[in-house]
Amino acid sequence: MTQCWRLDDERQTLALASSGGRCPQVVYWGAPLPAGEDLTAITRISTLDVTGGMLDENPDLSLCPEASRTFPGQPGLIVRDQDGTPLLPKFHLDGVEVRPDGLTVICKDQGNRLTYTADFALDPETHVIAMTAALSADRPLHLHWLAAPVLPAPQHANDMIDFAGRWCGEFQMNRTAWSPGIRYRENRTGRTGHEHFPGLIVPCQAATNTSGEAFAFHYGWSGGHRMIAEELPDGRRQIQFGHAARMETSPSTEFRTAPLYAVYSSDGLNGCAVSFQRHLRDRVVTWTKPGRPRPVHYNCWEAVYFAHDLPVLKDIATRAAKLGAERFVLDDGWFGQRDDDTSSLSDWEVDPRKYPDGLGPLIDYVHGQGMSFGIWFEPEMINPNSNIHRAHPDWALGSEDQVLGRQQKALNMALPEVRDFLYERISKLLSTHPIDYIKWDHNRVLPMPDAAQTRGSYALIDRLRADFPDVEIESCASGGGRIDFGILSRTQRVWLSDSNDALERLKMQHNASIFMPSAVTGSHVGPRKCHTSGRVLDIEFRAWVAAQRHMGFEMDPRELTDHEARVLADVTAWWKDNRDWMYTADILRLDASDPSVIAEQQQARDGSRFVVFSGKSGTSPQIAPRPLRLTRLEPDAQYEISLRNRASATVLSRGNLALKEGPLTLTGAALMHNGVTLPWSFPESMWVLEGKRL
Ligand code: GLA
Repeated sequence: MTQCWRLDDERQTLALASSGGRCPQVVYWGAPLPAGEDLTAITRISTLDVTGGMLDENPDLSLCPEASRTFPGQPGLIVRDQDGTPLLPKFHLDGVEVRPDGLTVICKDQGNRLTYTADFALDPETHVIAMTAALSADRPLHLHWLAAPVLPAPQHANDMIDFAGRWCGEFQMNRTAWSPGIRYRENRTGRTGHEHFPGLIVPCQAATNTSGEAFAFHYGWSGGHRMIAEELPDGRRQIQFGHAARMETSPSTEFRTAPLYAVYSSDGLNGCAVSFQRHLRDRVVTWTKPGRPRPVHYNCWEAVYFAHDLPVLKDIATRAAKLGAERFVLDDGWFGQRDDDTSSLSDWEVDPRKYPDGLGPLIDYVHGQGMSFGIWFEPEMINPNSNIHRAHPDWALGSEDQVLGRQQKALNMALPEVRDFLYERISKLLSTHPIDYIKWDHNRVLPMPDAAQTRGSYALIDRLRADFPDVEIESCASGGGRIDFGILSRTQRVWLSDSNDALERLKMQHNASIFMPSAVTGSHVGPRKCHTSGRVLDIEFRAWVAAQRHMGFEMDPRELTDHEARVLADVTAWWKDNRDWMYTADILRLDASDPSVIAEQQQARDGSRFVVFSGKSGTSPQIAPRPLRLTRLEPDAQYEISLRNRASATVLSRGNLALKEGPLTLTGAALMHNGVTLPWSFPESMWVLEGKRL
């Protein structure tokens, strides 16, 4: 007998079936099926034949594939009994609880006395399905691996795309061909990591940014994940996501995965991106003041590093405010004896040498300039050269002889006394000063992965959030080393990268937008000569790249020429004029036919306006720009388009282009099918095209 269930919204149907009382499997996921569809027939039409060299029946690709059923691939659960004996689970369906937009599957293994639960929650507005798996037992077990509910991947896909990265080079997309065997990614660094962003896209044949079918996945966990994308010998494919293996270091009676967020799109990668952007912004992030405009940031790191000097900081603050900054963030260097990165982490007390009267005078001054005040912490870390390490060497995680990272160790966040100490130090500062923002850093990997560490960090942040609900937190880890929906359910911004090189940012932002809206993505205008790449970039390019996301400045404003200050103030004013609608806008990646163009269209939720940022990352192979086709417009509507920065056309753009003269009106159909031909431009520059529906 086969029992079936389905989850539906306007975009998709996900159908589950259990045959012979076994653990259910996803038998269909994709475009909506008619209400009357016979799901048993779907199950039967999808059943694989059996030929030579096969078992007499193909084992299910269930929500938790079981080794005990001769499943020919990676199992969804690897667990040992109290005494270390490997268990071979064999689940039977115990029940399915169906809710309006979700369901919970409960399976039992009587022999091993285990309960497996898979939960699905479909958000009918964002179209994201959040899934978790849990395991419980009547005695403590050792968990090696528990996958979030396992999904089949489409067989009409040739490739998969996942995300790698490094310091100053986050969100690099890698495309690999499906082939028999496993694409296995495992991050054992104990934090989300630059190297392995926990995301995957499976684009079906011929899918692009703007068209075709695609499936996308994100695992919302900050402790390091494991991903398996496996093609079985029979051709079926499975996707597994979970915590990195063996990171549950203590036996327990209960285990639970983080949520796996999954999206199906019938309109290209943008369908996935828009779903994730909206879901993150509108469902996952807990905003301190929902709807409040995002303030323009000023961060002093690349201006002064550790050399904090009150008159200099005041001068910088005055200039930043004049340029349009609304929040001043005091970075590393204000505490302990922190004159470089060799000491003082965990000595979270204001350095009296640099601030003889405490932080009050600086904060008052910053407020006087009309800005709010934010401050840097790196709570999970400790330098061996610190008072706290001298007093509590046992608070550090890992062995005495471990290799340090940036001269520091991590604190053991599983220890309640460590969390209490950090809570006490941070809350003392927050309750005695008007501080509305923390840049929360995490600059080294852990000596070993440990889920208790991540849970400890989450608990500390949750406690601070509960007691200081108006304080926003930015997640930073040497730039983008801790970006995921788990940390973003307790923070409101990410520091995407330590690279303030606009050219590098242009690309990173473009790729990161598959998962993140601009509201949470910090982007700062860096120094004229970038400190991490040595590249010299024009102020206009730097300013517009920052204006694509949550804008800020991070250079020493004293280096700005009058011209640079004028451009920066102008672009910042533009950003402020537009930030309200851009806050909820969808970021749509455009399919530029010129490989040197990285372009996106940010479109208001009601479709009434948009802005296209067309960045030039290099010199084009052909002489003249190719037309850039826009997307998701109403074909019959008229749109007025105008080039915001047309005055920036160089003398080498010699033609009489209408866009250089003023606005033009065209239909959505023309803009989408014919496209827009922009003026010739230098590499490392950006055209900004504004559009409104008439
Ligand atoms: C990390 C961050 C930087 C800065 C420094 C301070 O590298 O990513 O933005 O805050 O730490 O030490």
